[in-house]
Amino acid sequence: MNRVSVVFVCLGNICRSPTAEGVFRALVASRGLEEFIHIDSAGTSNWHVGESPDSRATEAARERGIDLSSLRGRQATARDFSEFDYVIAMDDDNYASLSHLASPDQQHKLHLFLDFASGVAEREVPDPYYGGGFPHVFDLIENASEGLLKHILEND
Ligand code: 4NP
Repeated sequence: MNRVSVVFVCLGNICRSPTAEGVFRALVASRGLEEFIHIDSAGTSNWHVGESPDSRATEAARERGIDLSSLRGRQATARDFSEFDYVIAMDDDNYASLSHLASPDQQHKLHLFLDFASGVAEREVPDPYYGGGFPHVFDLIENASEGLLKHILEND
């Protein structure tokens, strides 16, 4: 298998994308694929750079056995499109912001996360920062993570 790199991106990099980073890291580790798949996360905003994940996201993940405590917020830049093979947006707003950072020949790296989910009605991972729903966000992320890993194993 080729080495593949994946960065998950949301707005703040304190709720959805660090959860996705933690869930996908655990899934990849459970298959013994850590040395082949490089994983990171970022936010389209600079609002929470250097911060730990939101305590509600940390708690929802901890309840499912995923530790987010070592993660810190950073902002996505155009460099993410040269460094990563997959740039995974949580919602349409993230997707639009990221599309502006990518050159025309890099647009194919950009994906909407739930396009990898199965049996899910939503297209976007909803922003839980004000509305809550962290357990549901976790479920969507877990579902899409399985689909993303399957896609990578079949295509890379
Ligand atoms: P995230 O959630 O994009 O999933 O990390 C948010 C975090 C912070 C804010 C909005 C969404 N905020 O407005 O500060």
